[in-house]
Amino acid sequence: MSKIINIAIDGPAGAGKSTIARLLAEKLGYLYLDTGAMYRAVGLKVFRSGLAVDDEAKIGEMLDTTELDIVYTDGTQKIFLDGKDVSEEIREHNVSAYASDVSKIKAVRLKMVEMQRDIAAKQNCILDGRDIGTFVLPNAEYKFFLTANSRERAKRRFAELKAKGVECNLEQIEKDIITRDYNDSHREFAPLKQADDAVVIDTSDMNIGQVAEKIINTVR
Ligand code: DC
Repeated sequence: MSKIINIAIDGPAGAGKSTIARLLAEKLGYLYLDTGAMYRAVGLKVFRSGLAVDDEAKIGEMLDTTELDIVYTDGTQKIFLDGKDVSEEIREHNVSAYASDVSKIKAVRLKMVEMQRDIAAKQNCILDGRDIGTFVLPNAEYKFFLTANSRERAKRRFAELKAKGVECNLEQIEKDIITRDYNDSHREFAPLKQADDAVVIDTSDMNIGQVAEKIINTVR
C-alpha cells in the first residue's frame, strides 16, 4: 500500500480554510476533514444542555455519554450528535462562540484529537483547524497556515450569512472574529498557532483560485 499523505491547513476563523480544503480534496481525491465541525457539535450540545461553558467537570461527564460520528455522503462530511444529523445547526452564528469556549477544555480536545488522528491514519486526508500542524499531526507531509486581516475575514462571513438570508452586521461580525481569534490563540492547551514548518499564506488580497493554485503547486 502506498504511503498515506496528510495535509494540514490551520489558521484563524474566516481565512478561507474550509473552502480551500474542500476544493483541494476534490482536486487531489483526498478526504476532507473539517475539525471545527467537531468542536461546534460539542458546543451545540453544551448550548442545548444549558451547562456553563466553563464547567469543565460537567462538560467532561457529558462527553462520556456523547456520541459523535463523522459520516461521508458522496464525499460531503456530515456530523451526527447522539444519532442526529446536526450539520446545519452547528453553522449558526451563536454556536461559534460555544465551540471556541468548549475547545479550551483539555478533555474535549483529547477526545476530538483522537478521532481526528484515527481518520487521518486510514486515508489521504486534508484536515483544517487550528492545531493540526502543531498538535494533531505534527508529522503531516504538508502544512499550510492561512491568514487574512480581520476586516477581510469579517466581510467573507458577512457575505456568507447574507447569502443564507441571515440578518447581520459587519462591525459585530468583525468584533466576534477578533474575540474568537484571541480565545483560540490564548488557550493553554494546543492553541491556534502557526507550525514552524508551515507555509504561510496571507489570503487578504487573493481569491480562492489563487490560494488553491499556490497550495497545489507546493503539494505536486
Ligand atoms: O473552524 P471553525 O470556525 O468551524 O471552528 C470553530 C471553533 O472550534 C474555533 O473557534 C476553535 C475550535 N477549533 C479548535 O480549537 N481546533 C480545531 N482544530 C478546530 C476548531
